[in-house]
Amino acid sequence: MKVIGLMSGTSGDGVDAALVEIGRRKSHVHVEMVAFHPLPYPRSLQQRILSASVSGTVAELCHLNALLGEWFANAALGVIRAAKLHPKDIDLIGSHGQTVHHLPHGIKDSGVGAIRSTLQIAEPAVIAERTGITTIANFRPRDIAAGGQGAPLTPGVHALLFRHPRHARLIVNLGGISNVTYLPRGSGVEGLIAFDTGPANMVLDGLMARSTNGRMVMDREGRSAGRGKVDGRLLAKLLAHPYLSQAPPKSTGREAFGAKMLDELTVMQQAQQLTIEDLLATCSRWTAEAVGTARRWIHGGIDEVIVGGGGVRNRAVMRHLAEVFTPVPVSTFESHGWDSKALEAVAFAVLAYQTAMEQCGNVPSVTGASHPSVLGCIIPSGPGWVAMLRSLHGRK
Ligand SMILES: Nc1ncnc2c1ncn2[C@@H]1O[C@H](COP(=O)(O)OP(=O)(O)O)[C@@H](O)[C@H]1O
Ligand SMILES: [Mg+2]
Repeated sequence: MKVIGLMSGTSGDGVDAALVEIGRRKSHVHVEMVAFHPLPYPRSLQQRILSASVSGTVAELCHLNALLGEWFANAALGVIRAAKLHPKDIDLIGSHGQTVHHLPHGIKDSGVGAIRSTLQIAEPAVIAERTGITTIANFRPRDIAAGGQGAPLTPGVHALLFRHPRHARLIVNLGGISNVTYLPRGSGVEGLIAFDTGPANMVLDGLMARSTNGRMVMDREGRSAGRGKVDGRLLAKLLAHPYLSQAPPKSTGREAFGAKMLDELTVMQQAQQLTIEDLLATCSRWTAEAVGTARRWIHGGIDEVIVGGGGVRNRAVMRHLAEVFTPVPVSTFESHGWDSKALEAVAFAVLAYQTAMEQCGNVPSVTGASHPSVLGCIIPSGPGWVAMLRSLHGRK
């Protein structure tokens, strides 16, 4: 089966499209990436998404939902072209969409208690219309409705792709936020632990953008951090952030580590007279130490740490990660045959496949949901889509 996964994470840097082939060998699901097509947003669009995520008007969100639908559709068409295929060759699209708000703890509402919610946009009807491919989207709300946090959803896929009979592995994703999946030796999803560990590129990107008036949106290769010095006092303060000591299940986002955090960091930078390089160095160390906190909740040892996400390109963060985990070896997804930037998109292709196959995609011990669920909303390609689903089942 050929499935496209579409993902734009909390960094809001662009849509990543991965075309994968998924097949079954006996009881084992085999996943292989055929093509990858990242479609970066122009800076102006990234800025609109980030500000709409904090204070967007309903009109702006309504518009962005449709506009991002076009971007996601273009990313899907782009990866099809990159694979030299035709839309009719593709069975399914799984689209994560763009998170604009994530409130996993809920807001108390009169009479009904805390209502938890999450909102991903990039209209799937537009994706299905432009591509003619059945599109599955909105994966998170079902897990939330079942009592979970709706995140993270990639751990089940990490287990599928990275579990090892003799090595206990910690899979780390350095996106806007960092998240980890612990895979004990040899197991399926039993004993799996996964959660968001805290800030990653979101803080580093934000500091770069602010200090350069938007001229630079990331600390490329970690060069600026590499010129600075980690400030022990500030680091100690940052490590006392309550999110880091909170026990899982937990997930976080721009609400905790976005603009407000940048304001606080700027105040601390001025109080301690640090250069922007020192601040970036300290926050890069903070990112690595936050990932390291995962060990508090892991019993059974880690044999290897395998890191992916756009943040693997940041040498400062990677150097700190190696120090934090020493003597455990730290490698990247590339050394295990996967593209660091593509894996989250691959995960949403696998999640769409699972939904089409009537399999549950969430791991309740990870999200806190009361039961496993078949995730997502299905936008049919058009007439004949039921026959198409039946034929997919026939190939099971
Ligand atoms: N060359 C690079 N050097 C440093 N950081 C990079 C580089 N390329 C990408 N990144 C970081 O990776 C982020 C995007 O990673 P990604 O995995 O797409 O995150 P998300 O899932 O949050 O969108 C960028 O915002 C940037 O911070
Ligand atoms: Mg991204």
